[in-house]
Amino acid sequence: MLILAIETSCDETACAIVKDGVEVLSNVINSQISVHQQFGGVVPEVASRHHIENIRNVVCEAICQANVSLDDIDAVAVANSPGLVGALLVGVSYAKGLAFGLNVPLIPVNHINAHICANFIAHRELCPPFICLVASGGHSHIVNVRGYTDFEVIARTRDDAAGEAYDKVARILGLGYPGGPAVAKRAENGDENFLKLPRVKMVGSFDFSFSGVKTAVINYVHGCVQRSEELRIDDICASFQLAVNEALCQHLIDVAIERNIDTIALAGGVASNAKLRELAEKFANENGLKFYCPPLNLCTDNAAMIGCLGYYNLQAGITADMSLNAIASV
Ligand code: KG4
Ligand code: ZN
Repeated sequence: MLILAIETSCDETACAIVKDGVEVLSNVINSQISVHQQFGGVVPEVASRHHIENIRNVVCEAICQANVSLDDIDAVAVANSPGLVGALLVGVSYAKGLAFGLNVPLIPVNHINAHICANFIAHRELCPPFICLVASGGHSHIVNVRGYTDFEVIARTRDDAAGEAYDKVARILGLGYPGGPAVAKRAENGDENFLKLPRVKMVGSFDFSFSGVKTAVINYVHGCVQRSEELRIDDICASFQLAVNEALCQHLIDVAIERNIDTIALAGGVASNAKLRELAEKFANENGLKFYCPPLNLCTDNAAMIGCLGYYNLQAGITADMSLNAIASV
């Protein structure tokens, strides 16, 4: 079963050819990061226009690298939610045209759940049930993966997503976009106990809140600037990273224990944070849980993960007709 998968939910135009759900024959990503860097974040309208310009080349490159022809494709999968609606629409429209022209099924894929499926590509022995933390620029979910197409969201963020908090803190520190990798780099030489930052725990809920820790950093930075004090950027980054990562890992472990599930996993762009991976693995070991995490290139946005969940969706009979639309939030 060869699936051609398309991903255009944010600032990556991506296409992958995936065999039987987990064998990635090609995984092409055209990143627009350099385009958006000058604005300090993703500009939706600019992203849509670049997807339109890039998608044909990206799809052709994926087919070429996989050494297949369009006639070999059995189905077309596309991320149709959640994301920037104009950006999603480019992928959805292209996928519809391709599926119609090839007379093959069109498969709608949820981007967040697809992030989780990156784990299936990397770890063939992994199977549901497990508890997965999906931390990206737009979402911080703890998901009970009950089956390959059965995802129960147990916790989410009440305000900022973890990646969003990383990006905003990077911005105030003048570290540029995307903020996560920049903060992680500066944190390498920092003292993580330099600033005491809040960890939020809601009563009766595993939900996250990251706006408090973000605001605490921003207020601290403003205070330093007003007093003309030198900003200890490495130490601030290390303290912030520890606060966010501890909250993410603690809630993940708490959910696994409460649900009595012996396996945890990470997914999403923030899962490429080395300290988060380290801490989650440490917590898992301390609690006798199995731990999984995708390789770095499958943590951030890509189309291989769309092909993987697309495969499972098709097996479950989840397909769409030509009325498929892009949905910004789910
Ligand atoms: O999953 P993703 O590629 O796109 C979305 O679906 O949002 O995640 C992007 C997010 C950005 O906020 C970025 O700053 C964050 O992931 N990120 C990181 C790291 N690499 C990317 N955050 C912390 N540490 C990293 N190493
Ligand atoms: Zn994503």
